[in-house]
Amino acid sequence: MAVQDQFKRPLRDLRLSVIDQCNFRCHYCMPAHIFNENYTFLQKEELLTDDELVRLSVLFSRLGVEKIRITGGEPLLRKGLPSLIERIGEKTRIEDIAVTTNGVFLPKLAQDLRGAGVQRVNISLDAIEDDVFRYMNGKGVGISPVLKGINAAREAGLYVKINMVVQKGVNDNQILPMARYFKRLGVTLRFIEYMDVGSTNGWDMRDVMTKKDILTELQSEFSLIPVKEAYFGEVAKRYKYSDKTGEVGFISSVSDTFCGSCTRARVSASGQLYTCLFASKGTDLREKLRSGKSDEELFEYISSVWEMRDDRYSEDRANLKDKREPIEMSYIGG
Ligand code: GTP
Ligand code: 5AD
Ligand code: SF4
Ligand code: SF4
Repeated sequence: MAVQDQFKRPLRDLRLSVIDQCNFRCHYCMPAHIFNENYTFLQKEELLTDDELVRLSVLFSRLGVEKIRITGGEPLLRKGLPSLIERIGEKTRIEDIAVTTNGVFLPKLAQDLRGAGVQRVNISLDAIEDDVFRYMNGKGVGISPVLKGINAAREAGLYVKINMVVQKGVNDNQILPMARYFKRLGVTLRFIEYMDVGSTNGWDMRDVMTKKDILTELQSEFSLIPVKEAYFGEVAKRYKYSDKTGEVGFISSVSDTFCGSCTRARVSASGQLYTCLFASKGTDLREKLRSGKSDEELFEYISSVWEMRDDRYSEDRANLKDKREPIEMSYIGG
C-alpha cells in the first residue's frame, strides 16, 4: 500500500530545489539587505549532485510520487539542468516534470528543457508595469527579459502559467493590468497570497491581499465562473472568464487553507527533506545518501518520515505564530 501520513495523506508530489541562489532579490523572498555579498550560499559540495538527485527521485517515485517540480532559488542557474531533468524522467518514468522559474534564462534554455521532457513551466511575474516590477525584484530589472522568457517558453511548446504574488500597497494596482495582459495572451495567471514563509521578509497580515480582495477587484471588470478542481489536492482555486478567453487561479494559503489535501514533500538543494513549506526542521537525506546506505534503507527511512508527518501549518497558523524558526523560501523553493 502507498505510504500515508498521520492524516492519511499520500505522498504524490515532490518539489526538488536544485540551487539556493537567484538573480533576483524579491523583497518578499530574498530581501537584498540580508541576501547580500556577506550572505553565504551553499557551497558546491553541499549541493546534492545530479546522481544524488536522480537517485532520490527514483526512491520518491517508488513511494508514490507522480509529479516533480524543480525549484530554486532560480533553478535555471544550475548548470546542466536540462540533462538532469532528462535523466530524472528516464529513470523514474514520471511524465509530469515541471519547473518554477523567474523566466529570465528561458530564452537560452526553453528549447533544451522541452527536449529534456519538461512540459510545463510556472513563471513568476509580479507586475506588468516596469517601475513596479523593477522595485519588486530588487535588482531594477524591467519586465522585458521576463516577457521574452514567457515568449520563448511558449514557442518551445511549454505550457506556461504566470505566478503573481500580491502585496497590498506594493503591486495591488497591477491586478487588473496583469489580468488584462494575460487574458489577451490566453495565458493563465495565478494570484498568490503573500505568505509568512521564512523569517526575513517582515510579513504582516495587513499586507496580504486575500483571494476575496483580489476576486472582488477582478469582478469589477470581468465576469468569472468558478471551475471544479482538476484533481485531489490542486493548489490553485480556478475561475474561467465567461467569454471563454481562459482562466485565472488563486493560491490562497493564508485565507483559505488547503493542508487537508497536501501531498507535497520538499527537498532542499542541500538534501534536507521537509514535510511542510513552513517546517522549521528538515531531515538530512544527504548524510544518508553519502554514508553508503542502500536504496532499501533509504526507502524505509523516507517512508517512516512521511508516516510520522502531521504538518498542517496554514490551518494552525494563528496558534503557531512566533513559536518557530521557519526556513527561507529561497532555500526550499516554495
Ligand atoms: P502547479 O502544479 O502548476 O499547480 O504548481 P504549484 O502551484 O503547486 O507550484 P508553484 O511553484 O507555481 O507555486 C505557486 C505558489 O504556491 C508558491 O507561492 C508556492 O509557495 C505555493 N505553494 C505550492 N505548494 C504549496 C503548499 O503545499 N503549501 C503552501 N502553503 N503553498 C504552496
Ligand atoms: N509568499 C507567496 N509566494 C511567494 N513566493 C516566494 N515567496 C513568497 C511568499 N512569501 C513565490 C514566488 C514563486 C513561487 C515559487 O513562490 O513568487 O512564484
Ligand atoms: Fe528569486 Fe523567485 Fe525568490 Fe524572486 S521569488 S528572489 S525570483 S527565487
Ligand atoms: Fe502542505 Fe504545509 Fe502548505 Fe499546509 S502549509 S498545504 S501542510 S506545505
